[in-house]
Amino acid sequence: MIRLHASPLQGFTDFRFRNAFQKYFGGIDLYIAPYIRLKGNLEIKPANARDILPANNSSLNLIPQIICKDADEFLYVAETVQKLGYNELNWNLGCPYPMVAKRGMGSGLLGMPENIDQILERVHTESDIRVSLKMRLGYENPNEIFRLLPLLEKFPLTNIAIHPRIGKQLYKGEADLDAFEECLGLSSHKIFYNGDITTVRRFREMQDRFPGIDHWMIGRGLIADPFLPAMIKADNPVYPENRYEVFKAFHDTLLSTYEEALSGPKHILMKMYSFWEYFIQSFPSSPKGLKKLKKAQSISTYREAVKQIINEELHKFT
Ligand SMILES: Cc1cc2nc3c(=O)[nH]c(=O)nc-3n(C[C@H](O)[C@H](O)[C@H](O)COP(=O)(O)O)c2cc1C
Repeated sequence: MIRLHASPLQGFTDFRFRNAFQKYFGGIDLYIAPYIRLKGNLEIKPANARDILPANNSSLNLIPQIICKDADEFLYVAETVQKLGYNELNWNLGCPYPMVAKRGMGSGLLGMPENIDQILERVHTESDIRVSLKMRLGYENPNEIFRLLPLLEKFPLTNIAIHPRIGKQLYKGEADLDAFEECLGLSSHKIFYNGDITTVRRFREMQDRFPGIDHWMIGRGLIADPFLPAMIKADNPVYPENRYEVFKAFHDTLLSTYEEALSGPKHILMKMYSFWEYFIQSFPSSPKGLKKLKKAQSISTYREAVKQIINEELHKFT
């Protein structure tokens, strides 16, 4: 049986999104929360704390994530999430953004395997939290992971999820499947695959290429096509007959939850627009849809634009 995990997307897959997703689509076995980053002192921001509160995640399985380059921070967050009832913390070693990577965090730490080794050594000595890793192949080049994986053999990691690009690439170019394959030979840990799963067909191709992988992570594809995880699970690329009704109900739930959470239409519209930058991929009959959404100045014109986009897709054959 395959397992699908939701890859975190900072700014998108917060608890409000996760709950709405879980209610209307499902297909996801476990969600990784967007990363917690401490800002210089041992204190978790209230928004991060709220995001992982068990009461806000009661309909789903969640693992919190940290981004850091420091064992003290790791241990502090580990203790905090343990108090909330979590027994695993995922470490982000993949974030490619220069602001993060240049500070030696995310994929910026992959070129310093000794630092990763030291942090994991302390974490495993001073805490009984279980640790999983989410990483790229490197920041500068894919050889970074080849040096790192042997050092990770001595730790009892839960799993290592690999997105086979390097940090410098951001999201450009192809995922390097040959390098991913090489990683499999260098580690006895449980390896998850992550990257560019956007259709059932693509998933099947990946499954054919890596038959030994049974855990898969989906990030952007899950927002672009929220039906994808359930279709992958069913091994059937067929949408429900009421596809757009379900999407609309999901959308409206998302909108009302952000109307409650954010202050003022401007923030709400910006938030919804950022989702639509992904959703629009499910609406190819509406090439101007995104523009209309961008222009919307009020919630009511926004709602009207959404209605039009959905109608255009529904009536594309008429
Ligand atoms: C806007 C955005 C935010 C992201 N935030 C996180 C994050 O908080 N933690 C993390 O591990 N990865 C983060 N990622 C990376 C994704 O989880 C995922 O690894 C990457 O997009 C590749 O998988 P995909 O092709 O299925 O999207 C983010 C990616 C994007 C595009």
